Amino acid sequence: MVALVHSPQDVRPSGRLTLQTAEIAPDITAIRCLDWDRDRFDIEFELQNGTTYNSFLIKGEKNALIDTAHCKFEQLYLSKLAQLIDLTTLDYLIVNHTEPDHSGLVKAVLRHAPQVTIVGSKVAIQFLQSMVHQPFNSLIVKSGSELELGRKHRLEFVSAPNLHWPDTIFTYDAGTRILFTCDVFGMHYCDDCLSDEVPHLLEADFRLYYDCLMGPNARAVLMALKRIEKFEVDLIATGHGPLLRHHRDDWVDRYRRWSENQAQTETFVALFYVEGYGSSDRLVRAISNGIAKTGVAVELVDLAVAETHEIRTLASCAAGFVLGMPPQSSQGSATHPGLSTLLATVSARQVFGLFESGGGEDEPLFPLRSHLQELGLVEAFPPILMKSAPTEVTDKLCDESGTDLGQRLTREQTLKHSKSVSSGLDRALGRISNGLYLITATKGDITSAMLASWVTQASFEPLGVAIAVSKDRAIESLLHYGDQFVLNVLEEGNYQPVMKHFLKRFPPGADRFAGVDTYQANNGCPILAQALAYLECEVTGRLDAGDHWIVYGTVNTGRVAKWEGLTATHHRKVGTHY
Ligand code: FEO
Repeated sequence: MVALVHSPQDVRPSGRLTLQTAEIAPDITAIRCLDWDRDRFDIEFELQNGTTYNSFLIKGEKNALIDTAHCKFEQLYLSKLAQLIDLTTLDYLIVNHTEPDHSGLVKAVLRHAPQVTIVGSKVAIQFLQSMVHQPFNSLIVKSGSELELGRKHRLEFVSAPNLHWPDTIFTYDAGTRILFTCDVFGMHYCDDCLSDEVPHLLEADFRLYYDCLMGPNARAVLMALKRIEKFEVDLIATGHGPLLRHHRDDWVDRYRRWSENQAQTETFVALFYVEGYGSSDRLVRAISNGIAKTGVAVELVDLAVAETHEIRTLASCAAGFVLGMPPQSSQGSATHPGLSTLLATVSARQVFGLFESGGGEDEPLFPLRSHLQELGLVEAFPPILMKSAPTEVTDKLCDESGTDLGQRLTREQTLKHSKSVSSGLDRALGRISNGLYLITATKGDITSAMLASWVTQASFEPLGVAIAVSKDRAIESLLHYGDQFVLNVLEEGNYQPVMKHFLKRFPPGADRFAGVDTYQANNGCPILAQALAYLECEVTGRLDAGDHWIVYGTVNTGRVAKWEGLTATHHRKVGTHY
């Protein structure tokens, strides 16, 4: 999945902020928050042309607001909204997607309209509960759910999970033939122009946005496109950038072509589960996050709503699958219908992983596991059995299980790639020598470690170090902005046992420090008792470097255990793989 951490400047009201409203159909007003100078989105998504956050108000016999905006617009947005409608008469707030650039003002709207019913997918409502920390009325919708607003506004909802969060829905107004898609078909482009009159000005930003947010989920894009084929659409009202009216078929066709091309070539894992059953949603997020770290795409499939042909297509094309055991079928001893389709489709070349989400009477897991192994499928990680509420520790287990599965699928490809580099070049690269270090990091209840040699001092002022971290390392998720870590320097002649221990392949969720002597640093991370020296650091920068992140940390404190000790060095034969 795409990195979802916002950089600190996201929340500062800075740069030029303006607001535009326009009547886009009878009873429907677009409220566009124009963020002219925003230059960064998520961690590494640089913007050239700012962005907009688009919200929409429908005034029927019932009144509905579709999405809100970023919290930096609170004053501008709320005063405009109050001019457009008496907020005590607002009946629904439809949340197509909960990322803060669209739901950042949900809490503010609730303050002025506590009577409102928030409409969203089950996952969206769960996310909102943890965002607003107050009770609210809610209505969970799925594909096919409808909401009658009167004055010809009948809304139909379409589930579009994984675009680019698992919470996403589209809202279609049959009365005006407007499809509200939030992030999907959006672009980060800030302009007074309401819609797409001049497409060549928008093409580059439309493509960049697709590549960053939608391309990694190409199959999910294709599934969503299939689900909206039945609608007659005059206007696509996106959550970012201009509304798509004049060239809407062309924009949709671009998504289709790009996604078909992407889907043909990429390796992907299908993740079958039942949304909202037990803790399945949280487990699915953690497992898919772990798989995505390896560069393998993930397609989420809700067995409760997926059509048989969707399950069959995904199960037959996927390189592997993960199955969250569904509830036992209510029809006597028959297996859950989605599960039956899946079992009839999988084949011996595939890898798999199973989990139980603790929902109740699940389909039996262990007989299924044996059956799949007898068919010649390869288990990528031991079954995950969730007996109590999930915690950070179980998130880690799921994340690492997903990574194990992804690595199993990419191993062959990685080896083939490293063999394709000429032997002169790989040996020349191998002559770059480094020291040997152990990076340790703690966040909440989770602690991890990584043996590292790609480490260097990077600055004097402030004192800073840079380390390269493979994107599929478990510790990667503990090395984001603001995270703490310790750089332990290993000593020449005294590092082999540590190196041997941390080079082991750990099973998912395993304690890396069992049997290792450590004590706690001021920043909470483990210091290796036998380290020659250590530095306590905070992550203050990250740079995308292909299959690695370059993590820059400012050094807060440190000490040397032995003044005369020498740092262990690492000499490699080749520089194309570890
Ligand atoms: Fe995924 Fe525009 O937020």
